[in-house]
Amino acid sequence: MTSNNPIYRPRRSRKNIQIKNMLSEVVIDASNLILPVFICSGYNIRREIKNLPGQFQFSIDVAVEKIKYAQSVGINFFMLFPSIDSNLKSCDGKEALNSENLICEAIKVIKSKISDVILISDVALDPYTDHGHDGVLGNDGDVLNDQTVEVLSKQALNQAKAGSDIVAPSDMMDGRVAQIRNELDKNGFENVLIMSYSVKYASHLYGPFRNAVGSNSHGPIDKSTYQMDFKRSREALIEIDLDVKESADMVIIKPAGFYLDIIKEARQNFKLPIIGYQVSGEYAMMKYAASAGAIDFDRVLFESLIAIKRAGADAIITYGALEIAEMLTKK
Ligand code: PBG
Repeated sequence: MTSNNPIYRPRRSRKNIQIKNMLSEVVIDASNLILPVFICSGYNIRREIKNLPGQFQFSIDVAVEKIKYAQSVGINFFMLFPSIDSNLKSCDGKEALNSENLICEAIKVIKSKISDVILISDVALDPYTDHGHDGVLGNDGDVLNDQTVEVLSKQALNQAKAGSDIVAPSDMMDGRVAQIRNELDKNGFENVLIMSYSVKYASHLYGPFRNAVGSNSHGPIDKSTYQMDFKRSREALIEIDLDVKESADMVIIKPAGFYLDIIKEARQNFKLPIIGYQVSGEYAMMKYAASAGAIDFDRVLFESLIAIKRAGADAIITYGALEIAEMLTKK
């Protein structure tokens, strides 16, 4: 290390925690996190979800308590998913349009008991169809686009009427954002936001979620004619561009952790807010690795969320929202 030129030593700025904190480019705050909550029917129910360790289906009364607790550690955004009874599922998923269905009831009750909470409701048919697809099937067994969009816009309207703050179409049909926006506006819900799953890959990381909503009761399900092919990246920009033109308020990129390149590219090309969804399989992998002793769950979860934000996400949907928020309050 002897030279006449001074040596730049990057290690100087890693010397202590104060310097590191001053230089850190990314912070995680509970206010940027969104917690998914699975709702089931009944009273006083707390049912563990297969392959999603530490995550539960809650009846509405229990969900209210959980949400109150989550707010006490700074989480205020909740994404609701229904786990409906199998006798309510049908080929066309018509229960989705019942204005008194489980999710509409959940929205009404939660909003009436907790005034400042922000609820995000999922718009898609998979929890309601007996085949588990996100839409209505045609004769060839594929999901019909335009017929499904019709249903989705009515589903979104029901959720808005129930009190949802943000509707989140996760179905990947073409043209649904515009139609949902029109339906909402026509009915006086121009202030309900649309958080569109613009970029949703046909990932193999959704398994535990499908257990949670029961969309895989007939075995593995192939959604690759509507969810995106993970061998393509530029298509993500086309999808976002369409949703921007159709008036989406913010876009979701999903999964997040394996798709950081897509998040970064989207960040560089668009101005609107980007939400990363750390999906059930990502969370489960960390949980199982931690329970085998291979990693420290809290630290790896934290690192994974920092990576998603560093790539350019403004906010993150994660099953670990509560765990991180608890960690941050202890600091
Ligand atoms: C379906 C939907 C899925 C997820 C959110 N909404 C799964 C799917 O496409 O089958 C996955 C979320 C996760 O894995 O955490 N509309």
